[in-house]
Amino acid sequence: MNKKRVYSGIRATGRLHLGNYFGAVKGMLALQDNYDCIFSVVDLHTITVPYDSSKLQSSIREIIIDYLAAGLDPKKCHLEIQSKVLGHVELAYLLSTIYPVSRLEDLPTYKDKKAQYPKYINMGLLYYPVLMASDVLLYKGELVPVGIDQEPHLEVMREIARKFNSMFGHTFPEPQRFKTDGDYVPSLSGGGKMSKSIVGSYINLTDDIETIRTRLALAPTDSGKIGGEVPKEGGVANLFSLLRLFKLDSQYKKFEQDYMNKNIHYAELKEVLTQGIYKELKPFQERRKIFEEDSNLVDSIIEEGRLKCIKIAQETMVEVRKKMGLS
Ligand code: TRP
Repeated sequence: MNKKRVYSGIRATGRLHLGNYFGAVKGMLALQDNYDCIFSVVDLHTITVPYDSSKLQSSIREIIIDYLAAGLDPKKCHLEIQSKVLGHVELAYLLSTIYPVSRLEDLPTYKDKKAQYPKYINMGLLYYPVLMASDVLLYKGELVPVGIDQEPHLEVMREIARKFNSMFGHTFPEPQRFKTDGDYVPSLSGGGKMSKSIVGSYINLTDDIETIRTRLALAPTDSGKIGGEVPKEGGVANLFSLLRLFKLDSQYKKFEQDYMNKNIHYAELKEVLTQGIYKELKPFQERRKIFEEDSNLVDSIIEEGRLKCIKIAQETMVEVRKKMGLS
């Protein structure tokens, strides 16, 4: 039986945090047993916003090591560093010739990034969704485990696939978003979701217990004397969501009671969370050490992934060049 192909990628913006773990990596772990998976570090996407070129290589490697420590197994899935497989860029260019600029300019992610970096509006940013489409289509990926915020990009991907198929004959599947459990990890900084680009919002998978404690200490709360139902959004709501996420259900009930009785002690809640989060991260951190200390092993895993991916990519590129009349 042919397994369906899954493709997903994470940008190389430093180490992974809890949001990546629950939002992406846990989903990847569940998929590697039943699908033909390629999991990538998308470094070419990383450089579309301001970044430090002297740190990029180490960031890429940190993510590969995080992937391995989390349990992605190179015997079950292929690990890729995007820029090492040249087909991504070539296919992105070819696909860009059949897709309207106006549609890209309208995408919410492009508009957000323009607002966030008004002095760094570059072609790559506009091109981002085309490159992302090429990531998945290069491998004829059918399923893409990413958060709901990526849905507009998946829509572009499907439009490109349809357009290509109608112009040059059936070639690409129309990839679908694959929803995995625990999509959403709340931020520590009040509202919204945990994000690398929001200072004070995240906990890294490599944080020790002291760091976790310090980060939680800075998370905003209220006076603790408000009473009534636990709020549905904001800092307090997010701390309660984290209790749930880490399956601290009995403590959740206790603190919920305390909240309603106007005698909640947030320091106590934060300590329970600190312990709960650290307990989940400890085995990961122990596995991570093994890979950190064996750089030959990591190098060979990267090389093996590269060779496997190049082989699949080449097949697609031969087909695409031929269909487009380029060979
Ligand atoms: N845009 C994705 C994100 O920000 C990263 C990404 C790039 C990606 N290429 C991809 C995700 C291909 C899935 C498939 O999370």
